[in-house]
Amino acid sequence: MSVYFCEENQIFHLQTKDTSYVFCVSDFNALEHLYYGKKIPTDNVKYISNRQIYSHVAHESRDKRDFCASVQGFEIAPFNGGDIRTPSVVYDVAGDVHANRLRYRSHKIYAGREPIEGLPYSRADENTQTLEVVLSDDDNNLFFTLYYVVFPETNVIARYQKLENKGSVSVFIRRFSSFCLDFYTMDFDAVTLEGIYLYEKASVSRSPIKRGVFKCNSLTGTSSHNRNPFLALCRHNADEDMGEVYGFNLLYSGNFMQEVSVGCLGDMRVVGGIDDTGFSWTLAKGESLVSPEAVMTYSDQGLGGMSRNFHDHIRSHIIERKFAYAPRPIVINSWEASYFAVSEEKVLTLAESASSCGADTVVLDDGWFRPNDRKGLGDWRTDLERFPSGIHGLTEKVHAMGLKFGLWLEPEMVNEDSDLYREHPEWILSTSKLPLISRYQYVLDLTRDEVVERVASRIIEELAGAKIDYIKWDFNRYATEAGSHATPSGEVYHRQMLGGYKLLSRIKAQFPDVLFETCCGGGGRFDLGMLFYSPQIWTSDNTDPYARTYIQYGTSYGYPVSAISCHFTEGDCTSGRESTYAFRYRVASFGSYGYELDLSKYTDEDKAIFKGYSEEYRRDEALNLQGDLYRLLSPEETDYCAYIKVSKDKKRALFTFLELYASGFVESMTLRLKGLDPNVAYRNERTGEVLYGATLMNVGIRIGDLYRKKREDGDSILFVAVE
Ligand code: DGJ
Repeated sequence: MSVYFCEENQIFHLQTKDTSYVFCVSDFNALEHLYYGKKIPTDNVKYISNRQIYSHVAHESRDKRDFCASVQGFEIAPFNGGDIRTPSVVYDVAGDVHANRLRYRSHKIYAGREPIEGLPYSRADENTQTLEVVLSDDDNNLFFTLYYVVFPETNVIARYQKLENKGSVSVFIRRFSSFCLDFYTMDFDAVTLEGIYLYEKASVSRSPIKRGVFKCNSLTGTSSHNRNPFLALCRHNADEDMGEVYGFNLLYSGNFMQEVSVGCLGDMRVVGGIDDTGFSWTLAKGESLVSPEAVMTYSDQGLGGMSRNFHDHIRSHIIERKFAYAPRPIVINSWEASYFAVSEEKVLTLAESASSCGADTVVLDDGWFRPNDRKGLGDWRTDLERFPSGIHGLTEKVHAMGLKFGLWLEPEMVNEDSDLYREHPEWILSTSKLPLISRYQYVLDLTRDEVVERVASRIIEELAGAKIDYIKWDFNRYATEAGSHATPSGEVYHRQMLGGYKLLSRIKAQFPDVLFETCCGGGGRFDLGMLFYSPQIWTSDNTDPYARTYIQYGTSYGYPVSAISCHFTEGDCTSGRESTYAFRYRVASFGSYGYELDLSKYTDEDKAIFKGYSEEYRRDEALNLQGDLYRLLSPEETDYCAYIKVSKDKKRALFTFLELYASGFVESMTLRLKGLDPNVAYRNERTGEVLYGATLMNVGIRIGDLYRKKREDGDSILFVAVE
């Protein structure tokens, strides 16, 4: 059992393997937050409640000054209810003067969970339990349900809320967060993943929480290349391996916010969910609104422990089960090989040599329906001049060669030069007669069901009967104009995201066994919302292995390596910087591996090297899919990057070291490993030496051991437990 309710003290205690989350029904029937952190017994911890009163702030009791809404912790914090801190919900009701005070009404606890209609959510298993708590705003007949879904083994609690309008008039919602969490102290650092296109999540930013408001958000209609919904709050003394860290994330791919604010008593509140900039939602009588799901975790094993909790949760509860732990395709993708200059002949030539490098899936990227990026999006008509057998015929030919086939799509967009746009210029998001254009394309107005339906049926019709095994789902511009001919502007961004998920679900339903890889001009939608639909995400259009080292290492703070799609490419298309094959492979095998190369340019000897890499990747793939990642050296903090992936049973581990700066002294450097079993002896497959985990983790290894064969910019050593 993981949800406890103590009738006598009216305390809810949610327990995971290592954490406790406690709140209670307090005086005046408020829902008061008491504790979140390391696991504690189910004692009555109501004594922690802050009952101070300070001047100028209102209090509930007329005769006893002992309940002040501005100092206590809350599970939901409405504006205009006596709490002067940052609210988690803001709404007002037509023509009424009211106070938004919410009172506990009822709760229920049950096994499993209910899916969230139209939005991604963490999937339940036999250990999952849910607590629903209902609160009401009695002045207005509004009912809030707070959902807590507890995943004991991954130390994750998922949260979201629903508002039902049972009153007689409309409610105008201005802020609608997925969660609210109060702390009695502000002694934390915020860690966020910062970046930009071609450098997504490459900068792991850590800054102390100060008085005022810290906000991490996106206004791009995507979770964006620049910021990410992942947020960690760590104690000042917490590092990679030790100390308390709280992790937060959202299963949402649109405008989001994570906001940390400090109250005047030095207390701290975290709220997260849909970004409220420009957001306003009219909830008519009888309607309800559900927020996206947030997930939170806690670890006293530093940032590494927090990441591993999230990695486990994402793999076992967010990614679809049938894909999560299964070997991924090794793709050979046409993009960096040919860009738009693709044809049936070229795809078949690529397919002919695919197996010579160990690839098993040929992916036809952009260009199969257009010669450049100026036309065709929205119409989805195969260019039969360049693809005379159609997509259907091409898939037959590729399959006959013993390979799988993948196809690129960008369904949420329309080119100005397209029949769809000419027929329906009103079906795009725009705020003026001269809409902003990017890459010659507009974002389709997916707040309209008829647009979702039209695009879905066109794509399904075009691909009918084609043997497709993999779909790359792209999104190549921001949705920065929230104007629709059908939807009020305050609702556009969220309804657009709901429409995007609907379109994705509709096409996925047509291709139930197809592995989807999502993409957004590289990593502009690398988030948990997308991972609900696609087990892996294209991480960045920057495939220079030096830059990718930062991008991938940063991404690993919030996301498992198997979700991080990485390709061995020419390596210099974005930077012009040259790199060795060995270095490119080491970097690309960090995540789910593939190629983007024009193989006709390579010799048989080269291809044999690539084939060896594919085999090595397959040998170690289980560590990516199921193992634990321990970060050893950060590229931002050192001239190197190092990590070790360890199997759950601790019998195998793959240590990787990457040199970003060629130091003459690196061979004498010693590095202590992590995550091994101290009592198990491991054989170093490079040197043959056998050493105990305790030795490898305390004394460490010599980097020089990596270079006994040959000095490379990076290399890996496999450690195998000696039976
Ligand atoms: C952006 C993606 O990130 C690339 O990999 C490629 O698919 C292009 N779009 C195609 O337009």
